[in-house]
Amino acid sequence: TENSLATPVGTTLERYIKRKEAEFAYATGELSQLLRDIALAGKIVNREVNRAGLSRITGAMGEKNVQGENQQKLDVEANIRFIRALTNGGEACAILSEEDEHIIETGNTNGKYVVAIDPLDGSSNIDVNISIGTIFSIYRRVSRIGGPARKEDFLQGGRSQVAAGYILYGSSTMLVYTTGHGVAGFTYENSLGEFFLSHPDIKIPRQGPVFSCNEGNWFDYPEFVRTFLMTCKERRLTARYVGSLVADYHRNLFTGGIYLYPPTVQKPEGKLRLLYEGYPLAFLIEQAGGMAVTGADVVLDVHPTADLHQRAPLFVGSADLVEELQAVAAQ
Ligand code: AHG
Ligand code: MN
Ligand code: MN
Ligand code: MN
Repeated sequence: TENSLATPVGTTLERYIKRKEAEFAYATGELSQLLRDIALAGKIVNREVNRAGLSRITGAMGEKNVQGENQQKLDVEANIRFIRALTNGGEACAILSEEDEHIIETGNTNGKYVVAIDPLDGSSNIDVNISIGTIFSIYRRVSRIGGPARKEDFLQGGRSQVAAGYILYGSSTMLVYTTGHGVAGFTYENSLGEFFLSHPDIKIPRQGPVFSCNEGNWFDYPEFVRTFLMTCKERRLTARYVGSLVADYHRNLFTGGIYLYPPTVQKPEGKLRLLYEGYPLAFLIEQAGGMAVTGADVVLDVHPTADLHQRAPLFVGSADLVEELQAVAAQ
């Protein structure tokens, strides 16, 4: 939007949030505080990620999470940091995390928001020094303020999100988020401990040269996915797959392209979780002029089931490419 373009690059996150608060009616200051709390936790996790090899925080916990995955130490550490920052910040009454089966009540019973979070995405990449990320999704609660949070707070559907974004612990650490008025990107300056506005108004190209998926699953993909991928190869698109969703998504946001996590024989609903991966990344991509579908259906229009950790296939990126895939899926 023209407003965000008016905001000079180099503004701090703090000044940016203050300026946006002044511009938008929604801004009651609580959502701004929530974004600050997430940025703070991101700074703390960034420090731990950057020194993981030195602080014996790499490797597995030797336990499995509700996903049946081997929890990495940094999965658990990041989870603790985000829960603590959101609890101390006071604005979130409850949190849904990939790493906890049940909703976490923060004790902020007057908090007006709930946060669904993937505290560390791509955690299989921690020990091999590949970029990883955090993904978050924010809703206004529907449960009574002053009372306990309820599952329904998290099951409002993707179009009820008031904000969503991610932190990419990459060659530089970036915070990218939307509150429904476009997508802004901030780059972390380690020496100052501040996020600075570096990308005021991110838009994904309608076309793009990249497709990103784990082709090791080729023989377990549905026919429509193989058909689509063949057309990508006939057009000599470039294959780029880090195996870390936030890194792949962020690259495609700038180059244009499509990321695919299709259904497979073992995972008929795909691997990625709707509430803290699919919905937030779908909200962001639509705000950046792209698209996200589960196949024939638009991600943000999928009605959630009662399963807080439900999975959904994810095809996300440049509108033209996602539309092509959606058309093949709908045949
Ligand atoms: P998480 O680490 O939060 O469990 O998510 C990992 C996801 C995503 O980051 C990545 O694209 C995908 O898992 C990789 O899965 P495959 O190894 O099956 O390709
Ligand atoms: Mn995981
Ligand atoms: Mn994840
Ligand atoms: Mn995760």
